[in-house]
Amino acid sequence: MNFFRRIEWLIVMSYFLIVIVEIIVLRNISGSPEANVIRYLTFFGVVLLSFVVVRQQIVKPIQEMRAASLQVAEGEYGNRLPSYNNIELNALAQTFNVMTATIEQSEQRRVELIGDVAHELRTPLNNIKITLEGLIDEVISAESTTFFDMQREISRLQRLISQLEILSRAESDQFTLQKQLASLETLLHTIVERLAIQFEDKGVTLAVEISADLPLIRFDRDRITQVVINIVGNALQHTPEGGRVVVSAEYAANEATITVQDSGIGLAPADLTRIFERFYRVDKSRQRSSGGNGIGLTIAKHLVQAHGGRIWATSLGPSQGTTIRFTLPQSTS
Ligand SMILES: Nc1ncnc2c1ncn2[C@@H]1O[C@H](COP(=O)(O)OP(=O)(O)O)[C@@H](O)[C@H]1O
Ligand SMILES: [Mg+2]
Repeated sequence: MNFFRRIEWLIVMSYFLIVIVEIIVLRNISGSPEANVIRYLTFFGVVLLSFVVVRQQIVKPIQEMRAASLQVAEGEYGNRLPSYNNIELNALAQTFNVMTATIEQSEQRRVELIGDVAHELRTPLNNIKITLEGLIDEVISAESTTFFDMQREISRLQRLISQLEILSRAESDQFTLQKQLASLETLLHTIVERLAIQFEDKGVTLAVEISADLPLIRFDRDRITQVVINIVGNALQHTPEGGRVVVSAEYAANEATITVQDSGIGLAPADLTRIFERFYRVDKSRQRSSGGNGIGLTIAKHLVQAHGGRIWATSLGPSQGTTIRFTLPQSTS
């Protein structure tokens, strides 16, 4: 029953009560002073009842909502409103709860992000500082390897900062896709040619398999290049010498599916979804030494989702290889 229906019912029931009192109770004593007293008491009772109902059903919830809103305004997002009998106010309260839960979550993510970024910046900066102090104190000799090491740490910082920029734009959806009708096949071949030397150096085979019926698709070439390079780069990084990486693409049900399958170290079931989280690395120490910061797949996920696609990982388990797939729907805009 909606709010106005309830009020209407309240008024009708009040009149009904008064009429009942008039007809049944006051029938025999009408006109007497006692009748007037009963009449006034009945009116008073009806008014008091209405007051209590309105207070309980409307005023109290509104006061509680106001108090809760003030707490949100002061930056406290943990409180939730109870459920109310009144359907409209209850719907409002539950929407309010969803809103505060979302704000609380994004606030928590913001705090986490600052912590993560500080943590990521600390390691390379510490390494540079220690090396510089060693150079000043002459406990480290000024050899070219020392400077190369420092340069590597600085490159790592630069890479982190530029990835953070991309991530923040991607997470706030502050980027526009430059979609063009283009050939995925050409794009994948270009990327594979570009990465061939790195694969040769490590002794990992890289192959491309494109299905013959792959049509042209509308996508942002630079962004999808970034996604594929990241996934293929990861595959190379996690596949030991002698292994194999296959990049394939096929088309079905109005969407292209791009698959990067490697014969590398694989993933445990628990990590299959976590690897798309910001700063998540399965083996933190090993990854740190090879320069990964755990942002690549998070960016990839945002870019794929911006295209209306999905991205996911599968693996039969540790040392069973990993497969990363993403879809690109055929879009008209
Ligand atoms: N092909 C793969 N095989 C095994 N683990 C992988 C693979 N690709 C990604 N991962 C895991 O997912 C983590 C996150 O990947 P990513 O977001 O690209 O970050 P980064 O490469 O900077 O560590 C990696 O650190 C790694 O632990
Ligand atoms: Mg990566």
